[in-house]
Amino acid sequence: MRQQKSKRQFKKPQVLAAGICAGLSLCLLLPACGQRQESAVTPDYVLTYAENQTKDYPTTQGAQYFADLVSKETGGKVEILVYPDAKLGDEVSTVEQCVLGGIDFTRVSLSTMTDKSAESNVLMLPFLYQDADHMWRVLDGDIGSDVMKTFDGTGITPLSWYDAGVRSFYTRTRASCLADLKGMKIRVQPSAEIPEQMVSLLGASTVKLDYSDVYSALQTGRIDGAENNWSSYEAMQHYEMAPYYLEDEHMRIPELQIMSTSTAQKLPDKYMDVIRECAKKSALHERELWTERETKAKERAVKAGCEAIPLSEEEKTKFRQAVQPLYDEYDASYGDLLARINALRYVSSTGE
Ligand code: GCU
Repeated sequence: MRQQKSKRQFKKPQVLAAGICAGLSLCLLLPACGQRQESAVTPDYVLTYAENQTKDYPTTQGAQYFADLVSKETGGKVEILVYPDAKLGDEVSTVEQCVLGGIDFTRVSLSTMTDKSAESNVLMLPFLYQDADHMWRVLDGDIGSDVMKTFDGTGITPLSWYDAGVRSFYTRTRASCLADLKGMKIRVQPSAEIPEQMVSLLGASTVKLDYSDVYSALQTGRIDGAENNWSSYEAMQHYEMAPYYLEDEHMRIPELQIMSTSTAQKLPDKYMDVIRECAKKSALHERELWTERETKAKERAVKAGCEAIPLSEEEKTKFRQAVQPLYDEYDASYGDLLARINALRYVSSTGE
């Protein structure tokens, strides 16, 4: 956080750059330095927002929407500079910088937060949600709020839930069923245990890598495949190296838009109220953008030569059965939470 009047210094070069931009003229337009826009008002606070996705990706667009809304609602007194493309570091380090107050906001995959909230693990269990609607009933209701509260005292203040669709496997050589994944080296997110446990239970081996390193690892053959949603697969051009996308739809990992608690404590209440409200609005906006992007991403990847491989319900059942040990493990400690999530499943009039 940079408060204009206090002339605080930043240690990290990019953040320092943002501070310098903010302190210069009111009429500067410096796209390389966050996304500062012309303004006739001198902001009281210039805050940084880290994103590891590209500028046109739904979560980054959601961040920019949030920044614009906060600026509008505070009459330009709170300015938020959004840094896309992991310019401020990878997800794990941006969360730590957020705890320290060096970065004020970020949006991360919940898998990056499991060391701060054990309950986060439950929300990303494979095949947990019936569909996207089920997930939103969970996140937008009491369960979502309760899990947000588990971050109390961690240095992180959760603001809103963002959408990240559903993840599936994609590979360099064709895999069209569970048996084909056996023995493959699959990239998993570096921070959480569940993706690692899941891939092992499915018979493949795991390589933990940051998101930005997946393309080159596919290119060199260090890994045989990875798993992600259509939007990330297309945005990061992974289809060029791993053109077989197996639509097993194994997990939905919610994403959290978060804020540094140390920044939150320094801001006047009137600005925090605006921030909370705008964060919620930005999340609704992101969800709309998400749906559109997911469809387009699949179309673009397929047009570029990717093969989308659908899975029969019978085959999906094999995936579900293989990951059952994860449920046995989590049911022992988080049975109540799992029961609450299951209670929000849609039940048809025939009881299915
Ligand atoms: C998704 C998510 C990213 C995350 C990535 C990953 O794309 O939006 O925040 O870094 O998954 O697999 O690491």
